Amino acid sequence: MSSALYFTHKGISFSNIWYDVDTLNFVENEFQLLDDDVLNVTYPKSGTNWMQEILGLIRHNGDPSWVRSLFVWDRSPWIGTTDGMKIALASPPPRLMASHLPFQLFPKSFLQSKAKVIYTLRNPKDVLVSYYHHTKFVKSMKDPGTVEEYLEEFLSGNVAFGSWFDHVKSWLEVKGRSNVFFNSYEEMQQDLRGSVEKICHFLGKELNSQQIDSVVENASFQKMKDNPKSNYTTVSDEHFDHKKGKLLRKGIVGDWKNHLTVAQSERFDRVYQEKMRGVNVTFPWD
Ligand code: A3P
Repeated sequence: MSSALYFTHKGISFSNIWYDVDTLNFVENEFQLLDDDVLNVTYPKSGTNWMQEILGLIRHNGDPSWVRSLFVWDRSPWIGTTDGMKIALASPPPRLMASHLPFQLFPKSFLQSKAKVIYTLRNPKDVLVSYYHHTKFVKSMKDPGTVEEYLEEFLSGNVAFGSWFDHVKSWLEVKGRSNVFFNSYEEMQQDLRGSVEKICHFLGKELNSQQIDSVVENASFQKMKDNPKSNYTTVSDEHFDHKKGKLLRKGIVGDWKNHLTVAQSERFDRVYQEKMRGVNVTFPWD
C-alpha cells in the first residue's frame, strides 16, 4: 500500500484524506455515546449506504423528504473521520451515525451505554469485488491493480480498515448484547420488508404498514441511484473519478462469480476457512 495515501493506526490502515490519529484516539477514548444514539456499523462495501437510507427513512416514518434534502454524510456522519466527527458532535440527539471502525477502535463508552448498533455483514467475496471497483474511482485510494493482485491484498488485510476477517470477528465478540443487532446484505436482498421490520423492532420504532412500504420503496437500488443526496454523484472530481465507477454499481448478490476464477475462489475459501476457524456462526453465504 502506498504510504502517501494511508497511515497505520494500531495495525489498521486509514486514508490520510478522511482520517487522522487525533480524531481516532478521541473517538475511541473520549467520545461519549448517548443512550438514544443509533450507529450503522460495517466493514466497507457491505451495504453501509443502503442502511443509511433505511435508518433515515425509518427515523422519518417512511417520509423520503429528509433523505432527499440532506447529504448522507450530514444526516448520519461517519464517526472516526475528521469531518464526520465534527458533524456528530454538533448533531442534536437522537443521533444517527455510521462507522467502519473495528470494535477495538470503537468508542469505549459504548460498553456503558444503551446506544444501539446495527452491524451489517456481506459475503466477503462480494465485498472484495465491490471494494475493488470502489478503489478504482476513489482518488485517495491506491490503484487496486488486477483482481489477482487485489485478492491477495484483501486476504492479507492490506486494505483500508484492515482485514475483513478481523473486523467481523471483533464485532462477533459483542453479538450477544441486547443493543447490538446483526444484519446481512443478503437478507436485505432476499426480503427487504422483513429486514426493515426487524430493524424497527430492534429500534423500538413502530411503523404502520404503509410507512414500512414507503421505507422499502424509497430504499430501493433505483430510488437511491436517483437520489443525488445518496448516490455520491455530486462528490467533487478532486475526490472521485466519476468516469471510473460509482457507489451504486450493481447492487446484487453473487457478483463475485463474474470476477473470480475457480482457482481464485478456491484460494479465497482456503484462507476463509483458516481465518474463520472456531467461529460458530452460520452466515447467509455458508
Ligand atoms: P456493489 O459494488 O456490489 O454494487 P457501501 O455502502 O458499504 O459502500 O456498499 C456499497 C455496495 O452496496 C455497492 O455494491 C452498492 O451497489 C450496494 N448498494 C447500495 N445501495 C443499495 C441498494 N439500495 N440495494 C442494493 N444494493 C445497494
